[in-house]
Amino acid sequence: MPKNTLSVTDNRTGNAYELNIENGCIRTADLRQIKTGAEDFGLMGYDPAFLNTANCKSKITFIDGDKGILEYRGYPIEQLAEKSTFLEVAYLIMNGELPAQKQFDDFKYQVTHHTYVHENIKAFMDGFRYDHHPMSILASTVAALSGFYPEASKVKDAAVRRAQIIRMIAKMPTIAAFSYRHSLGMPYIYPDNDLSYAGNFLSMVRRMGETKYQPNPSLERALDVLFILHADHEQNCSTTATRLVGSSVAAGVTALYGPLHGGANEAVLRMLREIGSISKIPDFIKKVKEGGGETKLMGFGHRVYKNYDPRAKVIKRIADQVFDVTGKNPLIDIALELEKIALQDEYFVKRKLYPNVDFYSGIIYEAMGFPVEMFPVLFAIPRTVGWLTQWEEMITDSEQKIARPRQVFLGAKRRDFVSMDKRKAL
Ligand code: ACO
Repeated sequence: MPKNTLSVTDNRTGNAYELNIENGCIRTADLRQIKTGAEDFGLMGYDPAFLNTANCKSKITFIDGDKGILEYRGYPIEQLAEKSTFLEVAYLIMNGELPAQKQFDDFKYQVTHHTYVHENIKAFMDGFRYDHHPMSILASTVAALSGFYPEASKVKDAAVRRAQIIRMIAKMPTIAAFSYRHSLGMPYIYPDNDLSYAGNFLSMVRRMGETKYQPNPSLERALDVLFILHADHEQNCSTTATRLVGSSVAAGVTALYGPLHGGANEAVLRMLREIGSISKIPDFIKKVKEGGGETKLMGFGHRVYKNYDPRAKVIKRIADQVFDVTGKNPLIDIALELEKIALQDEYFVKRKLYPNVDFYSGIIYEAMGFPVEMFPVLFAIPRTVGWLTQWEEMITDSEQKIARPRQVFLGAKRRDFVSMDKRKAL
């Protein structure tokens, strides 16, 4: 009769143990009973970068990296990208089910009517130099919001929690657009409550002298789909940061900033520009392969997907719709050729390196007129939904505690203090 247990023999002692298996996991805390003697601390798991450690149970997003599957609350990303809207998906992610009409109308009203920021936020943002990276303006401004809403610290109160989540989803596009306008020295544009979530963002970014901004419907829809694709991605680096810090979207934004995560689309664009023409691709691929990990093909590879990132497939399709409006971004030809060569090359095939979401998103953002510095900001807007839903799941999970990993200490053994006159220079 098969049992959901794991039998372990400690060959140091000959002792045998039986560990429970639940949901395909053992609890690493169960390893602590495995000791060589009374003084022994007990066995731990060593797993740098959490390659094979689940940090939580979650019901939000499912990924099968080998098959290239991504689902929010059970719904395939391809169907959501085709049939849904970002706000509907945000509701789904937060609440577990798609909204009925009345629920959706209420949710939309709530989000739409929290888009304004306190005037002091504008003044705060004015303090940044014109060339400050918008992602760092976003992180700092989001951190400053806590001072404007001190009740947000009541994290155990479900109603207060929900109010802050709505506020954050509503205000992220405003702060993101203000950070962009600030970098150009242009006046901030207040939210327009008549427009959609994506349309209002485009208005705050683009509007000049006109009294009413009408977003191009194709670009508005493309941005909305990009927001859907980026809304959540289970326990990625920035979401894990948000869960570990335990209360901070600013932590998520900051973790998202770097080139191996949300800054990858910025890095892809810089890489494509550096390559410059199709004829230079073979030399670049050679550099990647012979560089011993120094030069990476940005936008390729993923910690979880060892198959084509399903989001990249959807993005590739919307690129054409955007180019119909904006004209073709010439970098797309370099990207397509790079992908074609890389997918046939043994180096990439062997390592299961496929294009990820960032390989094409930057090309679309650029065609839409966004500078590269704005790309991670455009990622942070929709990911706020994922960060906060994951954070709320953590807060309401009775098994969770303040995060505190163990370490394997390999440093100096205990020794006596040496006075300065007796120390040797290093
Ligand atoms: N180009 C070239 N080689 C790569 C790349 C790449 N983009 N990614 C991984 N490799 C190589 C590694 O050098 C390694 O080679 P080795 O076995 O000879 O040492 C092998 O493939 C395995 O890579 P790992 O480092 O184990 O992969 P890991 O899971 O740690 O990294 C990551 C995943 C960080 C995404 C990586 O693929 C990468 O840096 N990609 C480029 C940056 C990028 O596009 N990031 C966006 C990710 S999606 C997102 O955050 C939204």
